[in-house]
Amino acid sequence: MKKHIVIGVSGGIAAYKALDIVSGLRKRDIGINVILTKNACEFVTPLSFQTLSNNYVVTDTFQEPKAWEVEHISLAKKASLILIAPATANVIGKVANGIADDMLTTTIMAARCPIVFAPAMNTNMYNNPIVQENIQFLRSKGYYFIEPESGWLACGDLGKGKLPKPEVIIEEVLKHMNQNQDLEGKNILVTAGPTVEAIDPMRYITNHSSGKMGYAIAQQAAVRGASVKLISGPTHLQCPPYVEKIGIQSAVDMQQAVNANFQWADIIIKAAAVADYRPIEESKHKIKKANQDITLTLTRNPDILQELGRKKANKILVGFAAETKDLISYAKEKIMKKNLDFIVANNINEKGAGFKEDTNVVSIIDKEGNINHYPMMSKVELANIILDKIKDRSAIMNSFR
Ligand SMILES: Cc1cc2nc3c(=O)[nH]c(=O)nc-3n(C[C@H](O)[C@H](O)[C@H](O)COP(=O)(O)O)c2cc1C
Repeated sequence: MKKHIVIGVSGGIAAYKALDIVSGLRKRDIGINVILTKNACEFVTPLSFQTLSNNYVVTDTFQEPKAWEVEHISLAKKASLILIAPATANVIGKVANGIADDMLTTTIMAARCPIVFAPAMNTNMYNNPIVQENIQFLRSKGYYFIEPESGWLACGDLGKGKLPKPEVIIEEVLKHMNQNQDLEGKNILVTAGPTVEAIDPMRYITNHSSGKMGYAIAQQAAVRGASVKLISGPTHLQCPPYVEKIGIQSAVDMQQAVNANFQWADIIIKAAAVADYRPIEESKHKIKKANQDITLTLTRNPDILQELGRKKANKILVGFAAETKDLISYAKEKIMKKNLDFIVANNINEKGAGFKEDTNVVSIIDKEGNINHYPMMSKVELANIILDKIKDRSAIMNSFR
């Protein structure tokens, strides 16, 4: 099927450069719909984009529709990717704050495809902490950004904020579109979040896992074309688009759900923080307060990862290790004991790492003993590094089959 891109042009001085981007992408046989913001029309005309894209141009949410479909929804559904070039500080700020008050921001909000911003603005605007925070926030939610270049800006200032050359933007767009489908045909099972182990009908034991890492992996795997099932303990997170979520409470529930989906999966990524122990007995009634101390006896939960490692055969199995000390030695031991392909290890005491953060700082250790240390990055970026490693491993394993 022919690929289709929606190009959003917002009201910056670099808006005219979007004409070359449209024309370059069209030469590559990609279908294009352009959305201009009202302010972009002060800089460039819809007619130029209409001519170069060979398609109608949308500027207004309430303009006469070209077909009997709700325009922003149909454009969002049709797009393999949305590029916003140039992206103003204003449009970035609106999307970061959930504002959908024109055709471009409404389409972005309705879209499930990869969304790539190419910001361009005065260097002081770009370096403004609010703009930077908005960019960081959107990155953490899975939106992509093409870095602006440094140089003389239209306003006469020297610094970062220039829209990169059309060829550079086109290259980035093509990279994202190819990446889009590189896991097509793979069945990926991801586990995420904490487990909840009941003490009585009112009380339970759990941990601080937010599920953010596992959800980011599930989201990115789906974006890259995999079929994804996400087995998740209770979290406050929304299930990512195109991911099938299976909600569970306890480690025993998790074990059952994992076993039920074992045959289906080619790749299993265990990012959940599964409780090692549960109360030996769940009281049917609320345990009443008494004058003396009470003792809660805990029993071992099933070791799901070890069980998977024993029967994994040709499947790829990835584990996580969250430790507070001796990280690498624990992680190496876990790889051997659980027969993992590789492990993602993080010290939850490190700044920027751990459960509630949108970022992580990890080392990845494979079963051959190779160790890669990574700087702090968003969980979405890390998800893609993990998926790239899986893809490389899967290619090597297939060549030996
Ligand atoms: C001459 C001129 C040039 C501008 N250039 C930029 C720019 O390069 N980047 C930017 O973020 N805003 C720029 N602005 C400000 C935006 O036009 C303004 O924030 C507007 O509200 C953006 O609307 P939109 O995001 O809906 O297109 C410029 C304004 C003017 C008058």
